[in-house]
Amino acid sequence: MPGKTFMKWVLAVVSAALVSGGALAQNKPNVVILATGGTIAGAGADVANTATYQAAKVPVDKLVASVPQLSNVANVRGEQVFQIASESFRNDNLLTLGKRVSALVKQNDVDGVVITHGTDTAEETAYFLNLVVKTEKPIVVVAAMRPGTAMSADGVLNLYDAVVVAGAKDARGRGTFIVMNDEINSGRDAAKMINVRTDAFKSPWGPLGMVVEGRNYWFRKLDKRHTANSEFDVDKIDSLPLVEIAYASGNVNDTAYRAFAAAGAKAIIHAGTGNGSVSGTLVPVLQELRGKGIQIIRSSHVNAGGFVLRNGEQPDDKYDWIVAHDLNPQKARILATVALTATSDSKELQRIFMEY
Ligand code: DGL
Repeated sequence: MPGKTFMKWVLAVVSAALVSGGALAQNKPNVVILATGGTIAGAGADVANTATYQAAKVPVDKLVASVPQLSNVANVRGEQVFQIASESFRNDNLLTLGKRVSALVKQNDVDGVVITHGTDTAEETAYFLNLVVKTEKPIVVVAAMRPGTAMSADGVLNLYDAVVVAGAKDARGRGTFIVMNDEINSGRDAAKMINVRTDAFKSPWGPLGMVVEGRNYWFRKLDKRHTANSEFDVDKIDSLPLVEIAYASGNVNDTAYRAFAAAGAKAIIHAGTGNGSVSGTLVPVLQELRGKGIQIIRSSHVNAGGFVLRNGEQPDDKYDWIVAHDLNPQKARILATVALTATSDSKELQRIFMEY
C-alpha cells in the first residue's frame, strides 16, 4: 500500500477507533457486516491500479474502519465469513452464508445485514438469499468495481450506502438488495452487465430505488415472492443439488450437455440464444436427457435481460421442459438448485420459476 494512502488509511483506522469506541447508540440501528472477500476488500500496488489488483485481501475490521462515517448511521460490527474472490464461491459457501444471515436476522439486536462480496457472483448470492432467508429485515449485498487503494475507489460510498439501507425501516419487506453506485437494485433482478465500470449492475426492470446522502428514495417494489413470503428456508436445506449451465451459440453441439448428465446434474440450464432458442440438432438430445429424468430449463444469454416465453421457440408442454422466464442462466441455476430441494415435479418447478 503506497505511503500517502497508507497514512490516510492509518488515520481513518485511528479516528474510527475513537469514534466507534463509544457505547452503542440506542437511537441507531444495529447492522452486522458479513465479509466474504472480493474487490471491495481488494488491494492494488498503485493508486492508478483500478483494474489490476488482488481481491479478498483487506479484513472486515479494516474495511469497517476505513469508513468511520458508518458509525453516524448505525451501530456496526463485522464478521469475516470468508476471504475469497467470488468466482470461487461454491454451493457450500452459499449455504454457510445463508445460515449465518438467517441466524443473525432472528436476533432482536440485529436490524439488518450487509454482505461485502465480489462482483462476479454477487447477483447469485443476492438471489439465493432472496429465496431462502425468511425475514422482513433488510439484507444488502454490496461490492465494488475498484479496490480501496485506487483513485476514486467506489467501495467506500457503496459500503456506507449499504449500511444506510440495511438499517432503514423503510427497506424492510422488500427482498434482498444489491446496493452500488447510489442505486438500490433487487437481489432478484440485478446482474453484472459490464466488468470495468462502477455502474456495472443493472436490472432489466430498473432499480427499486436510490440512496443519496444517507437517505433512501423508493420507486417500486419487487412483485415476485421472496424472503419472508418464500416457501424455501435455508435452515431446512443441508445440500444443494447439482445444476449445470450449458452455453449455446452457433455451431453448438451436445458434448457439454451429455457431460453434465454423466456427472449427475439434476437439471441443465440451456443458456440459449434469443428467446432461449434450441438448435435443431440439440432438440433430440435434450429430449433424450429429459427422458432420463434430467430437468431441461430454457434460459437466454442475451445481455440486457432475457424473457423466455413458454411454448414460444419450443413446444415446452410437449417436451416437458421448463422456461426460466426473465432469469439469466446463472440466476436460473440458483433457483433450480433451491427448487430441486423441494420438488422434482416439472409442473411444480415451472410454477416456482414463474413465482420467484
Ligand atoms: N474476482 C472478482 C470477484 O471477487 C473481483 C471482482 C470484484 O469483486 O469486483 O468477484
